Amino acid sequence: MSGMEVPDSAVRIVGGARLHGSVRVTGAKNSVLKLMAAALLAQGRTVLHEVPDILDVSIMAELLRRLGCVVNYDASMATVAIDVPARPEHRADYDLVRRMRASICVLGPLVSRCGEADVALPGGDNIGSRGLDMHVAGLQRMGATVTSEHGYLIALAPDGLRGSNIWLDFPSVGATETLLMAAVRARGTTVIDNAAREPEIVDICRMLVAMGAVIDGVGTSTIEVQGVDVLNPTEHTTVSDRIVAGTWAVGAALTQGDVTVTNADAEHLEIALDKLVTAGAHVDIGSDGFRVTMDRRPTAVDIVTLPYPGFPTDLQPQFIALNAIAEGSALVTENLFEARFRFVHELARLGADVQTEGHHALVRGTALLSGAPVEATDIRAGAGLVLAGLVAGGTTTVHEFHHVDRGYAGFVTDLQRLGAQVMRIPADG
Ligand code: UD1
Repeated sequence: MSGMEVPDSAVRIVGGARLHGSVRVTGAKNSVLKLMAAALLAQGRTVLHEVPDILDVSIMAELLRRLGCVVNYDASMATVAIDVPARPEHRADYDLVRRMRASICVLGPLVSRCGEADVALPGGDNIGSRGLDMHVAGLQRMGATVTSEHGYLIALAPDGLRGSNIWLDFPSVGATETLLMAAVRARGTTVIDNAAREPEIVDICRMLVAMGAVIDGVGTSTIEVQGVDVLNPTEHTTVSDRIVAGTWAVGAALTQGDVTVTNADAEHLEIALDKLVTAGAHVDIGSDGFRVTMDRRPTAVDIVTLPYPGFPTDLQPQFIALNAIAEGSALVTENLFEARFRFVHELARLGADVQTEGHHALVRGTALLSGAPVEATDIRAGAGLVLAGLVAGGTTTVHEFHHVDRGYAGFVTDLQRLGAQVMRIPADG
């Protein structure tokens, strides 16, 4: 697998190619990390399939090893096997958590399994302040004592957690997952109201049910969990990555290409694909994915990001890239992460005309961007910059490309196979 080292950190793109061909999507990063954490809930061997070969999976594997698990990842089979001991360790160290905010997802399983969890407070993407207040308040309602000391969140529930009624202020993906994983082994019934409904939440619920959990209302805003004493290990196939699939869809539309995306679920991308149709693309949906073709300059499309089933914030930068070269102007509203517009300064280096005001961005389409060195500030911003580079005249170099590698397995190779002129270069190249 990719190992723990940060791979080559810059990618050079020569603009002008039209993406053409077929690309297969693997399991979702935003699901598999939580599924790996969920393995902690049962003693014995859990096996996960469609595990993408990305750095975040390596970091999560290392975190699980530190907690006492034996983790084997087979990249050729895209499978990870996790052997969980009878009594895992309960401390997630700062050196790993700071590299990946999603490490916080071990909090729920650890407090449930061990009666205590010490998890370093996370860093992660530079996309705004990302609170943990709902995770904490929910665990407290379930009887845990939660404090913060020396940069660690410490949750204690020596007598176990108890079921409770929890109302989330906002349908947070992370908080829903933490509370789900805490509730499955709590005493009694937990109701999570205003729960997140993302396909990744449905995926973890399916895995937990296969482990013996009792969950009602999966995929709705009200999830009801009857706690059970013991969960069993299972074998599970990760839901496909809708954000990677959506990135390819935008890539096809933006480059006036023709891309078939397989192992993808168009239902998980309904609004995004609909926006591409509004922009002028043709979208054909098949049983194993979809095909996007485009034969003209896109028309600008307004975007408002919202929790699922709304338009995903993780596709916002890619759509800003599309709008940057579109005919007309579009208003993009970001409702989830306030700092997500930071990357438009980088896009401006390519000649994009984007004006931001609070959580709105006005994008005025220009006929041609011009290649320049730019810097990826987070995973999705990096993907947006790569897409913009594909339609910029001349050469674009995306620095800090390791951010993109965190979310897109084999991105550069796939781009090359689809006809793009893209190559990794030494970071200072
Ligand atoms: C997950 C995804 C991320 C995606 C996001 C929204 C992973 C690893 N990451 O992030 O790619 O963009 O869902 O779809 O799965 N918040 C609080 N208090 C809390 C929890 C959240 O204020 O206790 C705020 C956050 O600061 C943020 C917003 O709620 O502004 C959304 O957060 P959340 O839905 O929890 O996203 P993540 O789970 O962090």
